[in-house]
Amino acid sequence: MEYAHDDVRHVAETLFARIDKLENPRDILRAKEIGELYARLRTLNDDQKATFGAEVNSLKQALRKEVSGRTSVADEVRAIDVTAPMDVNCSVPNFLSHEAGSEHPITKEIALITDIFAAMGFTVEESRELDDQYHMFETLNFPKGHPARDDYDTFTTVQTDADGEGFVAPAHTSTMQNRILKKYKANLEANEAIAAIVPDRVFRNEDLDARHEHTFYQIEGVYVAKEVTAGMLVATLQEFLQAYYQKELDVRMNPYYFPFTEPSFEFALSCPFCEKAGCKVCGHEGWIELLGCGLIHPNVLKAAEIDPTVYTGFAFGCGIDRLVMMKHGIEDIRLFHSAKLEFLRQFA
Ligand code: DAH
Repeated sequence: MEYAHDDVRHVAETLFARIDKLENPRDILRAKEIGELYARLRTLNDDQKATFGAEVNSLKQALRKEVSGRTSVADEVRAIDVTAPMDVNCSVPNFLSHEAGSEHPITKEIALITDIFAAMGFTVEESRELDDQYHMFETLNFPKGHPARDDYDTFTTVQTDADGEGFVAPAHTSTMQNRILKKYKANLEANEAIAAIVPDRVFRNEDLDARHEHTFYQIEGVYVAKEVTAGMLVATLQEFLQAYYQKELDVRMNPYYFPFTEPSFEFALSCPFCEKAGCKVCGHEGWIELLGCGLIHPNVLKAAEIDPTVYTGFAFGCGIDRLVMMKHGIEDIRLFHSAKLEFLRQFA
């Protein structure tokens, strides 16, 4: 169409010349000059409006026709090949950067606890998340039907082992004692001690509250050599706790019962926060009952084919969550597995 109006003709020339320069040719339809022509329309009288309007419309149509078959740069980007093992066109996904994360307080504290025991000559062993009743009970001097088995109510599989017993989620790290004694037995023949710790996860069928979780952490310690005494047990635990709380601490032992130690003790430390004056952490007692320990029962040594008339040893088991809760003033054990970022970020 010929454009009778100079303004329309001029805009038509400008816009047709511009099309090739645009990344997306179809953007020409939104050119500001077209908007300006429509704005002019409103200023004209009715006669002028009719012809001017028809010219502007036909310009728009001509432009539309010109660009309709053209593709934009965006259209030319290679399509994603869904069969490719990796899409080379995709941008980096918007994950949280690793700087925004933090180490879990339990992980952090286990590293510290492990360092303290390593400095005292203990090697570190891992436990497992599924074990058999032989390691959970038999090797620890709980024969079948022993009433103390009931103190360790945990989760059992429907599938059974060769003895016809379900597998268990270990309720304590003591399940590793027999394996440690067997693994390091050669140390004794070389006149060296067996000294190992097991910091790992354990499970109980608990009613949950601020102090009880179904999944928590313990550290087991095993030490066997010739002429091991309860004094060595006390010194080792006191040394560890003083290094952990960075404080001189008093310790206290009361007689207790575990099938796998004889004698057995409940071990308490003077409250690291009030030094026996009484505070919230120690329930105004001045003392905190912390862990179970004792001299390894001869039957436990025998189950690993270690002669109890030649060798003796001590063992202990301590809840790690409790140590960490006391250290940081954490009031609810359930926070550890809560995945609450406002809790976790405090340990970043
Ligand atoms: N396994 C015990 C528990 O979870 C704690 C324990 C007590 C471990 C005495 C030991 C020990 O090694 O000698 O209740």
